[in-house]
Formats: sequence, C-alpha cells, structure tokens
Amino acid sequence: MSILEKHKIIEKNATLLLVGSLLVVSVGGIVEIAPLFYLQNTIEKVEGMRPYTPLELAGRNIYVREGCYVCHSQMIRPFRDEVERYGHYSLAAESMYDHPFQWGSKRTGPDLARVGGRYSNEWQVQHLADPRAVVPESIMPSYAFLKTNEVTVRDVGMDIKANGLVGVPYTPDMIANAEADMKMQADANADTTALLERYPKAKTGDFDGDPSKLSEMDALVSYLQMLGTLVDYSTYDDATGYR
Ligand code: HEC
Repeated sequence: MSILEKHKIIEKNATLLLVGSLLVVSVGGIVEIAPLFYLQNTIEKVEGMRPYTPLELAGRNIYVREGCYVCHSQMIRPFRDEVERYGHYSLAAESMYDHPFQWGSKRTGPDLARVGGRYSNEWQVQHLADPRAVVPESIMPSYAFLKTNEVTVRDVGMDIKANGLVGVPYTPDMIANAEADMKMQADANADTTALLERYPKAKTGDFDGDPSKLSEMDALVSYLQMLGTLVDYSTYDDATGYR
C-alpha cells in the first residue's frame, strides 16, 4: 500500500480525520504555549515605563473613541524596514499599561508607536484639525472639533481607579491628585514639579495653544507626544533584555 493510499483511509473516515487533526493542532499548540510556563517573565524588564498621566489617559480614550486604531498601528515589528522607518521595535513592556492594547491590525496611515516628539505640538494640532493643510496628499479625516470639545475632567478619577483594578500601578497619591494633575499638565504657567515626580518625562504645557480651556485636543496631543518616549533604551539590551 503506497503512502497516498494509506492517507486515503484517514481522508475517508471523518472521525479518524478529526482525531488526527486534533492531534496535530495540539502538538503545535504545546510547542508554542508550554515554553511560556517556564519563562520567568514574558514581559521584558525595562526602565522608564510608568502609568499614563490623567491627561494622557484622557487622550488615549479619545484615540480609542475616534477609532484612530482603524488606520494606525502601535506596534513596530522587528524587521529592518520597520525599524529604519519608525525606530526600535516595540517591546511588550511598552503596552503593559494599555487596557485594551492599541497594536492595531491595519496601517492606512503610519505606525504611531514612536510618534512622540517627532513633531511639534503646533504641527500635531494643525494636522489633526486639517490634515491636508500640512500633508497635501493626506486622506486622514479632520478632527477639528477636538479643539472645541472640553475634556470631561470628572471622569478621570474613576478611569484611573478602573485601570488600577486591572493592574496598572496607580498609587493613592496619583488617584488623589488625578483631577489637579490633569489640569496642571496642560497649563503653561503651573508648577509641575509634583506632577513630574509622579509621572517622569511627562510633557507639559498648553498643547493646543488655547489657554482658555482644557480641550480634547490638549489631551490627545499630550498622549501622542508621550508615545514611544518612556522606555529608556540606553539601559535596555537587545540580547538579554536588561543590563
Ligand atoms: C482613514 C484613516 C485614518 C484615520 C481614521 C486616522 N488617520 Fe492619522 N493618518 C492617516 C494617514 C493616511 C496618514 C499619513 C498622511 C498624513 O500625515 O496625514 C496619517 C498620519 C497621522 C499622523 C502623522 C504620523 C507620522 O509619523 O507622520 C498622526 C500623528 C496621526 N495620523 C494621528 C491620528 C489620530 C490621533 C487619529 C484619530 C483621532 C487618526 N490619525 C486617524 C490616516 C488616518
């Protein structure tokens, strides 16, 4: 009996085929999943990751609400073309405080995982308000209304508590100061020393250039300017994960 004929037996018997398929799939599954149980940690140790500031968190919520993830990914894959275009490939640690994560699955626009600091606040505001004013060939929709929408400050305390419940290490100090921190981060005249102690590397200032109110634009731009800027790559080693 040739091998093809032997295979015919399996193909003609639905039960046998099912059992055979399950066997193959389980072997594949075990090979992929079992090693994870023997790793100490599936998230590499990095320095610099911290919970999002209340304003960044509000901006992140707007990012999710507006469906920016439909056109933008936040995951740089470890391929040379991606790394040369966007910067160091994304680490698992960089999305450990994202609930839910914003990796995305489609790139109509560029990856945003390291867009923080790439452009000025003015550029970000102008681009979001009228993408074609700065990138003539852009097909991105306009989000000009974010400049007039005020951020709902009262939601932020609850939001931070909810994130705390799912494992983001917000301290009681951060929770108690959530509303004040949120207003302070977008106030160009505020003393932000305490805010920066709680949230190192947070960008502060009047993001949308309109000091009269805390707009959704302030929040979204503060979030974009933080993306990819937290992990300190000088203390991260590609081969071993940490130094
Ligand atoms: C319909 C798809 C689409 C949606 C939805 C969309 N974008 Fe874009 N975005 C693009 C395209 C295309 C570009 C590249 C052209 C340009 O710069 O405008 C882009 C560019 C960008 C850039 C510049 C990136 C770079 O590295 O140059 C940023 C920042 C950005 N988008 C943010 C956002 C945010 C925030 C939202 C949600 C409020 C959003 N986008 C929604 C398609 C989209």
